Amino acid sequence: MNLTPSQPASQSISTDVRLVDCRGFDEVNMNLFLAPGPNPYQDTEEFLFDCEMRADEMPRFVRRALLEFQVRSNPDGILLLKGLPIDPGLYYVHTPLNAQRSQEKTTFVSERCLAMIGSRLGHLVSYIQEKNGDLFQNLAPVKGQETIQSSGGSQTRLQFHRETVFHPYAPEYLLLFCLRPDHDRIAETTYASITHALPLLSAEHRSLLFQPLYRTGIDYSFGNLQTVKGNGPVLPVLYGNPDDPFLNYDEDLMEALTPEAQDALDALKAAIAQVYRGVKLDTGDLLCIDNRRTVHGRSSFTPRYDGFDRWLQRSFVVRDLGESAGDRHLGERVIRTAF
Ligand SMILES: [Fe+2]
Repeated sequence: MNLTPSQPASQSISTDVRLVDCRGFDEVNMNLFLAPGPNPYQDTEEFLFDCEMRADEMPRFVRRALLEFQVRSNPDGILLLKGLPIDPGLYYVHTPLNAQRSQEKTTFVSERCLAMIGSRLGHLVSYIQEKNGDLFQNLAPVKGQETIQSSGGSQTRLQFHRETVFHPYAPEYLLLFCLRPDHDRIAETTYASITHALPLLSAEHRSLLFQPLYRTGIDYSFGNLQTVKGNGPVLPVLYGNPDDPFLNYDEDLMEALTPEAQDALDALKAAIAQVYRGVKLDTGDLLCIDNRRTVHGRSSFTPRYDGFDRWLQRSFVVRDLGESAGDRHLGERVIRTAF
């Protein structure tokens, strides 16, 4: 399959992905998300506690789907919640320029969707190097960054990666909430799970991928502005259960230490190009990605910079806050590991 920018992924979402359809929520359920509460940017911890308590009251089918996803994941390593409530008047709010926090958006329904859904999977965290350590990060095309491998890019395909693969406290889940699709509705969030890619790899390649023969790089957004390859830690690409492994992978920044290991990495790249799928997120859709099993990317699209470009909000979720405690300030969610 050709993944050049002129040929974005066109496959529809696979049928074995568990979709959680929230479009039939009644008024009581809608109000769980819509009713005002603490300010997520000023009373962050109170906001998160409030959201977690509200999430306890979500319909049973939503809680059950999130529980199954947390415990067992699924072959695609994604869960899509469709049609969650959105901020009132969102239609008239401009997509923030430079992907900064929106000053026009004065309600916090999208933040509540992320925090409520995230609370069933773990705990929201952020990273000091990304977007000022905001827990709710605005993703939108940024003028001048069209071809950069970062969330501000647009006209180049965003290559497949595990989120912050180089980081000792990488998130177990990545949440993307769509406030606004792109004008042409062609932008797809692409994803590929190791579950689907593994059967395409030979035993020899699998064995190499399980060995620490791969050096990854630090992300552009963490300060690697020259996108230097191989300035990060050496890792195995596959780890965990040999029949159901987890995946460390970054198509852009990872390189092998030996020619044989590079062959295996190339085989994995080809397998991912064969099994990947894409989903066009619409307003009110929240995509949960299992960051240990599934790599993600984005097809290319054309921004207009007219205030109504594609706009997502993103949050990161870890299952155990304690692991990063040494690199966080007391009572804060911001992980401050230095690189
Ligand atoms: Fe990403």
